[in-house]
Formats: sequence, C-alpha cells, structure tokens
Amino acid sequence: MLVITGATGNIGKTATALLLERGERVRVIGRDRTKLQHLVEIGAEAAVGDLNDLPFVTDAFKGAKAVFAMIPPPQFSIASFRNHQREVGETIASALAAAKVGYVVNLSSQGAELSSGTGPVVGLHEQEERLNRLDLNVLHLRPTYFMENLMASIPFIREHGIAGSAVRGDIKLAMIATRDIAEKVAGHLAALDFQGKEVRDLLGERDLTLQEAFGVIGRRIGMPDLKYVQFNPDEAFKGMTMSGFSSDTARLFIEMSKALNEGLFGVNRPRNAANTTPTSIEEFAKSFAAVYQGAVHMHAE
Ligand SMILES: NC(=O)c1ccc[n+]([C@@H]2O[C@H](COP(=O)([O-])OP(=O)(O)OC[C@H]3O[C@@H](n4cnc5c(N)ncnc54)[C@H](OP(=O)(O)O)[C@@H]3O)[C@@H](O)[C@H]2O)c1
Repeated sequence: MLVITGATGNIGKTATALLLERGERVRVIGRDRTKLQHLVEIGAEAAVGDLNDLPFVTDAFKGAKAVFAMIPPPQFSIASFRNHQREVGETIASALAAAKVGYVVNLSSQGAELSSGTGPVVGLHEQEERLNRLDLNVLHLRPTYFMENLMASIPFIREHGIAGSAVRGDIKLAMIATRDIAEKVAGHLAALDFQGKEVRDLLGERDLTLQEAFGVIGRRIGMPDLKYVQFNPDEAFKGMTMSGFSSDTARLFIEMSKALNEGLFGVNRPRNAANTTPTSIEEFAKSFAAVYQGAVHMHAE
C-alpha cells in the first residue's frame, strides 16, 4: 500500500492516477470525500480527515510501505502560516514513526537548504530536518517554482491586461510543471530507489524569465503583447492583503520573492538529465489557456 497526502491537489492527484495505472494499491488522504471520489472511482482507497489530526494520520499511514508527504498550503488568510507548517509537519513526522513506515518521499523545495530568508520555504527546511531525525528512508524532492503559480495572475490579467508580482521579470528562473513532479513522485514510490536520507533537485525543462514565460502564455491566449511587470514590494503587499491574505502570509510571500530575485532558488544548480524534466512552458501554456478561457467565460456569464 502507498499513501498519498494532498491527494486532491496538483501533484497528489496525478501521482495517484499514475500509480493506479501501474497496478499499485493507493490510499489517498484529503479532507473532503466528494473531492476524493474521482480517485476512488479509478481504484484508490479514501482516508478522509485532516493532516493536523495525529490519530487519524497515524491510522491512514498504517500498513503503508511508503508515503508521499507534503505540507499543503493553508488558507492564505491564516494568522500564522509558519505555525500551520509546524503543526502539520510535526503530525506527519509523528505519524510516520508511530505507523512504522519505512519509506517517505517528502515534497520539499528549492531553497530548503537555507534556514532563513526564504519565506514559506523555511517551513520546508524545518520539515526536512524533522524527517531526517526519523529512523526511515527519506527522499526529499526539491522542485523549483511551479509553472502553476503563473495561474495566480489570471484575475489580474483579466482586469488589467498585464501580469505582475514582486518577482523580477528579467532574471532567469527554473520553472517546473507539477505533472513532472507527480511523475517523479510516482516513479520513486513504485521503485523505492532511495536509502537513508537523500535529496534530489527538480528544475523543470529550462530556465526562463517571467517576461519570457508570459510572452509564451500571451501568444497562446490571444494576447501577443501581454507584458509582465514587477510590482514594488509595498504595492504587492497591499494587493495581497486587499485580496484576503493575512499580513503574515503576505510578508512571507514578499520574503520569498526577494529570495527568488536574489537567485536563491535553483538557478545556479548545474542542470543534468536527472534534474531536468520534460514539460516546456509552451506545453504548459495550453493548460494555462484552458483555465484562462474558462475564467473569462465564467466572468462573462
Ligand atoms: N508553488 C511552488 O512554487 C512550490 C515550490 C516548491 C514546493 N512547493 C510545495 O508544494 C505544495 C503544494 O503542492 P500542490 O500544488 O500539489 O498542492 P495543492 O494543489 O495546493 O493541494 C494540496 C491539497 O492538500 C489538501 N489539504 C490542504 N490542507 C489539508 C489539511 N489540513 N489536511 C489534509 N489535507 C489538506 C487539499 O485537499 P482537500 O481540500 O481535498 O483536503 C489540497 O487539494 C506547497 O504546500 C509547498 O509545500 C510549492
């Protein structure tokens, strides 16, 4: 039995489908039975509950030969983002130990080697350390900036005809599609090809700037002149809090943007076949366009 946390999310749902296709038995964790239903219909077993609930998580991990563990993002209005990460991280670690799980693939991030200055990624640094203290085999996957993050710009593009955030538009970033992370997760869970404590970088298909990424996306959504602009941190903070982020969450995201601007996330890693993944921004732009067109459509109705 393999257990997937965050199973209705970007990575979890694709990893689950890939594992079921390979004939693996999979238990999926989520808080909402109806959202898990599709995975149950294709063969998964559902465990419905919260990753903050230690007895529930221990039970859900029982009998697992391996677990895919993530700390899901909380509601961005949460008073303390880092407390949420600490609570869920401790619950996952305690449940892995109590259920005597032998292997865990942990969703970490580029920048997780740093203990400060990276916003929410500091919580993933702490989670790596927490899991390294356990007596089990751990593979920390450190993916770079998700291409799916670009979809957060959809409302702004719709309203103002431009994309933007606090990250510079003119520096190269490594960017990855979550489908590629899911393929790695499924592959490692099926093969259990790691021992002790290991770390693997996942850097996407190539490095590109946000201006280049939105150039490709703009052409795909019929806005060939779509521009990406960098907001100053104060404007970005204001925009986030006005759209419902707590000031704590907004502050952490600004800190992470600064770390990206300073090149702390993956750009200086040597690329090789093992850390490069297939999905290009041109391919991802097709999914972006489908969501964008859906959003425009919904708005018009
Ligand atoms: N964005 C980036 O650039 C980046 C880069 C590196 C690493 N990461 C990591 O990637 C993670 C997100 O991965 P993703 O995009 O695959 O996830 P996602 O799409 O945000 O989905 C996470 C899932 O977790 C479930 N969940 C949320 N809170 C829960 C709780 N308290 N108890 C149980 N289940 C809960 C939710 O399902 P239900 O609502 O159905 O319960 C949700 O579908 C981040 O948290 C971060 O750690 C992100």
